[in-house]
Amino acid sequence: MHNQPKYIPLRASEFFHDGRSARLPVEHTVARGTTAEANQFYKEKDVYLDNYFLTGKIGTLEGDKFPLPLTKEVLLRGQERYNIYCTPCHSRVGDGNGMIVNRGIKRPPSYHEERLKKAPIGHFYDVMTNGFGAMLNYQAQIKPEDRWAIAAYIRVLQVSEDASLSDVPPADRNHIQEPANMPTASPHATDVVPVAPSPTPAQDMNSRPALNNRGNENKTPKKEDKR
Ligand code: HEC
Repeated sequence: MHNQPKYIPLRASEFFHDGRSARLPVEHTVARGTTAEANQFYKEKDVYLDNYFLTGKIGTLEGDKFPLPLTKEVLLRGQERYNIYCTPCHSRVGDGNGMIVNRGIKRPPSYHEERLKKAPIGHFYDVMTNGFGAMLNYQAQIKPEDRWAIAAYIRVLQVSEDASLSDVPPADRNHIQEPANMPTASPHATDVVPVAPSPTPAQDMNSRPALNNRGNENKTPKKEDKR
């Protein structure tokens, strides 16, 4: 273990003719996540790759414009990414009562409080990019365009919790006023529909065996285990 056939950085090599152990990348190598690659992606998607797109800030202030074409596709992508990355703490409706919070992590603020409803959209992007207080950042896990999609979906959640009947197109109002006729499962399962909040701690705790007993029921100590 002590002597390994490896080179530490900048050590000379007798193996290569130029005497260097550090090798240059093969010609035309493209590193993952380079700006060349990113530029190509954003060019195809017709997005200008400016500072605001990458920071959510104009100068030092959080901006309030959405830098992508805002389509239903973007919102659905945002919903999907949000449900993967944010719901464990923030919950599916964004009230801050996620599963992990029930297990003791600091409870995040609800997206539906006045301060966050008024926050510019760049704030949500910035929180994901740089973290906020006790929350770590999601820079490595979530690409910039997905961070924007999530920020847009948080706006969907905020509006959905605060909507009135007049926000619904007249043709659809009847469905809402007749809850008895509503199907139990949405026929449009892929539509942007905020889902029910996560179970309360009480319900959830009762439905599971106590953590420290799990998996130990059938174990009897064996002699061979003792060393
Ligand atoms: C592991 C738990 C956890 C996850 C996962 C998480 N957050 Fe948070 N979030 C927190 C906590 C805790 C706070 C409160 C931080 C504080 O005030 O110290 C917070 C705060 C926030 C805030 C409010 C900032 C403010 O101005 O008060 C936003 C917005 C936010 N998170 C967005 C997100 C988004 C978007 C995701 C998913 C990409 C996400 N969070 C994932 C725990 C989490």
